[in-house]
Amino acid sequence: MNIVLMGPPGAGKGTQAEFIKARYPIPHISTGDIFREAVANGTELGKKAKTYMDSGQLVPDEVTIGIIEERLAREDCQKGFLLDGFPRTTVQAEALDKALALTGRKIEAAINISVPNEILVERMSGRISCKDCKTVYNLKFNPPAKAGICDRCGGELIQRSDDRGDTVGKRLEVYMEQTNPLLDYYKAQGLLHDIDGNRDTEVVFADVRSILEKLQ
Ligand code: AP5
Ligand code: MG
Ligand code: ZN
Repeated sequence: MNIVLMGPPGAGKGTQAEFIKARYPIPHISTGDIFREAVANGTELGKKAKTYMDSGQLVPDEVTIGIIEERLAREDCQKGFLLDGFPRTTVQAEALDKALALTGRKIEAAINISVPNEILVERMSGRISCKDCKTVYNLKFNPPAKAGICDRCGGELIQRSDDRGDTVGKRLEVYMEQTNPLLDYYKAQGLLHDIDGNRDTEVVFADVRSILEKLQ
């Protein structure tokens, strides 16, 4: 199963990826998570990515594509993978298809999660996640049992720096300009599946599952 999870910031890609991972044995590859880890570790990549992320802009294609090519070449991706937050530009989508074709692989489904903008803003503003185990919560929709503390591991809950202030609006703008047009790329290939993401997480996952079951 070679899957792409698409949708605007805050749509629930990461949340659905957790459900998918629990049921299907494929690696979850999130470019956002890779960049955030690099930032936390203070690597060269992290320093470069941080300025783009904090202003709501995309990290340049040449940086992002290189990371994904390297990741998809690894052994654990040969029987399938779940991409979350990549591709985000047409250049990235074409580079992905090219890299996969070299090893006789291709994307089998692009799942697009749609949610109205005002809800996306609410979700991003309320998102907090565990510093240690990375579990994601929401102050309004999915709060932890104890304020500021992770239910799963007791770690500290923190807000993502790009979920603050003007950056949220900028990310939505950048999505509409650069990523939304990519839906047509997958539609033209008959690979696009649209899902209404403005429902309970389990209900959304039932739709995701019915798409994945048909691929197996
Ligand atoms: P990235 O980390 O990919 O962020 P994003 O696309 O903006 O998406 P999010 O992670 O914000 O949202 P999500 O859809 O995963 O939602 P989640 O499940 O957390 O990218 C960050 C940055 O990195 C980019 O801005 C860019 O700079 C850079 N970058 C990354 N990839 C790149 C690429 N390919 N090229 C260039 N640059 C790149 O849910 C959100 C909240 O809502 C949570 O609190 C959750 O609990 C809640 N929630 C989820 N589902 C529901 C539901 N059904 N009902 C109620 N609440 C829900
Ligand atoms: Mg995410
Ligand atoms: Zn935790």
